[in-house]
Amino acid sequence: MTKEIFPIGIFDSGVGGTSIWKEINSLLPNESTIYLSDSKNAPYGEKCKDEIIDLSIKNTEFLLNKNSKIIVVACNTATTNAIKYLREKYDVPFIGIEPAIKPASFQTKTNKIGLLATKGTLNSKLFEQTSSLIDKDIVIKEQIGLGLVELIENGKLYSNEMSDLLDRYLKPMLEKNIDCLVLGCTHYPYLIPQIRLVLGNKIQIIDSGEAVAKQTMKVLSDCNLLEKGNASLETNHIFYINKDKRVLKDLLTDNINESSDIIETDF
Ligand code: DGL
Repeated sequence: MTKEIFPIGIFDSGVGGTSIWKEINSLLPNESTIYLSDSKNAPYGEKCKDEIIDLSIKNTEFLLNKNSKIIVVACNTATTNAIKYLREKYDVPFIGIEPAIKPASFQTKTNKIGLLATKGTLNSKLFEQTSSLIDKDIVIKEQIGLGLVELIENGKLYSNEMSDLLDRYLKPMLEKNIDCLVLGCTHYPYLIPQIRLVLGNKIQIIDSGEAVAKQTMKVLSDCNLLEKGNASLETNHIFYINKDKRVLKDLLTDNINESSDIIETDF
């Protein structure tokens, strides 16, 4: 059996990485995927680096045991804290995701960028390195999105608690005259309609989902691992979650069909 037909493995601390899964699935419709949602251990953003590394290793092993040909770390917190160790430990290619502050730095006219991300991402060495490369005239107004991931994981995407937190985190950015908001967590694209209610339509919202999908395609192609579309093989998508699957199912309703399965299992 050739490796191209093996699935793309994707993991996140929870359901948010499905925002990346959607981008990958839309760019690479011939690819099968396995998604792991470690919701039992979410949020990663409040954990220490060693714990994030251990959880990322556990997730990677799970996906490798299911024959993943490449691993997409669909979590900014896991990428910025653990991807270096994963790349050292395993031979398989890894794709990571980081807050898109560099693209935002090319777009801003006011030289003021807002960034919403987890504590684990903002405090990481990798993020420090990336932000040190940004033009010194540009001010990045960083905000930890404390509580946002938990609300999404608990099915409270549209709730008063969510609106209150978004008001609290985003209004000070408006006062600082930002013209771009970077979403530095893969859960946050699901908040865009509500973020728009606070920020209005003039501020650009930037996330890294499309770039991650393009990078996945490039690396698969460079490694001769792209599935070319064998008509006799059905593409299939399996989602594993170690908590109640309802929230995950709701986020995926418009994107999955009979060849997809959502499995609750302990890992
Ligand atoms: N989706 C994860 C990220 O991109 C959420 C992190 C968390 O669980 O706190 O960082």
